[in-house]
Formats: sequence, structure tokens, C-alpha cells
Amino acid sequence: MKKVMLLACLGFLCCLLSGAEKNGTLVLYYSWSDAGNTRQVAEIIAKSTGGVCEKIVPEQAYSRKYAEVLKRGRAELKQSKSCPVKPLKNDWRKYDVIFVGSPIWFGTYAPPVRSFLQQNDLRSKKVFFFCTHGKGGAGTYFKDAKKLCPAAVPGTEFSCYGNHVKKIAPKVKTWVEKVMK
Ligand SMILES: Cc1cc2nc3c(=O)[nH]c(=O)nc-3n(C[C@H](O)[C@H](O)[C@H](O)COP(=O)(O)O)c2cc1C
Repeated sequence: MKKVMLLACLGFLCCLLSGAEKNGTLVLYYSWSDAGNTRQVAEIIAKSTGGVCEKIVPEQAYSRKYAEVLKRGRAELKQSKSCPVKPLKNDWRKYDVIFVGSPIWFGTYAPPVRSFLQQNDLRSKKVFFFCTHGKGGAGTYFKDAKKLCPAAVPGTEFSCYGNHVKKIAPKVKTWVEKVMK
């Protein structure tokens, strides 16, 4: 009888703990450059929301050589399922709000972000997309990402020129406050 009571208490405690994780915010991103522009924006979002930040990690790491990344990235984007990613450490199902950020590659998402969206159905979540880019701008990232994830809240996108990331914190915070209202 004591054992049954103990198990029941443990079960109740587990429910409480997993419930505590719920309603939180998870900020997912991919970042390749040494500067980590998208990572920096992700960290500001996580800090502003009190959320958890995690990188989407490709099973096979990208080369640190720009020319090789260009070659592989271009080839992967031409195929529809080409960049398997590692399972996340944080279970996204336990969060109500999920931010998904990508650097712009060839005018759209980086392949690891696309893979994550292809592999996971975020329909029950509130999803916000953000990106950092070079001189080409955000391209079709938001449109493409929303095709894979219709759960995204319309009209809430945030994009930023990669070189401006250092001074972008106030704008990111204002955006987060606006979309989280
Ligand atoms: C493979 C590759 C492709 C890129 N393609 C574009 C592009 O099409 N348009 C653009 O504006 N920037 C492009 N960039 C620049 C990145 O989007 C930009 O520097 C971004 O801020 C990098 O983010 P990160 O530091 O998180 O990797 C590209 C960068 C890489 C490595």
C-alpha cells in the first residue's frame, strides 16, 4: 500500500513538474557564421521572454569553409529533404510559444531550419519566425517557412541585417513585447 501511495505521489510530482515547463517559450535557431548573428537575436528573444534557447544542429556539421557551405547549402536547398537534424534537447511539445530563427541562405531558410519544420508539426503552437540576412534581405523565408508551418502567427515576422545585430537588442525587445501581448 505504501508503495502504491509513493508511486501516486511521484506521478503527481511529475505532472506538476512537466506542467511547470508548459506555457514557456522555446527559441529555436540555426546559425553558421562565427559572428552567430541569428544566435545573438535568439538569445535576446530568450532573455526577453524568460524562455529557453536551443540551436537546431545538423547531423552532419557544415564545413567552416565558406565556399564549401555555399556548395552544400545550394545543393541541399535544391532537394526537398536533405539535411537531417539531431533531436532537440528540449521537447518542443512542452512549450506553448516557439520562435524559429534562420540565417537567410540563397534567399530563404538555411537547410537545418527547413528540416526541423518538415519533421515537426507545430500546429498546436504559437509560432513566430525571425531571421538575419546579408544585403539580399529576408527573401522568401517567411513565405516558405509558413508553407511548412501554417501555425505561424500572421504579420509577426522579424528580420534584421546581420551586421546590425549588435545594436538591434532594443528593436528585438519591442518586437517580442508586441507579439507576446
Ligand atoms: C551559404 C550562405 C548563403 C547566404 N545567402 C544569403 C542570401 O541569399 N541573402 C542574404 O541577404 N544573405 C545571405 N547570406 C548571409 C547570411 O544570411 C547573414 O550573414 C546572416 O546574418 C548569417 O547569420 P549567422 O551568423 O547566424 O550564420 C548567406 C550566408 C551563407 C553562409
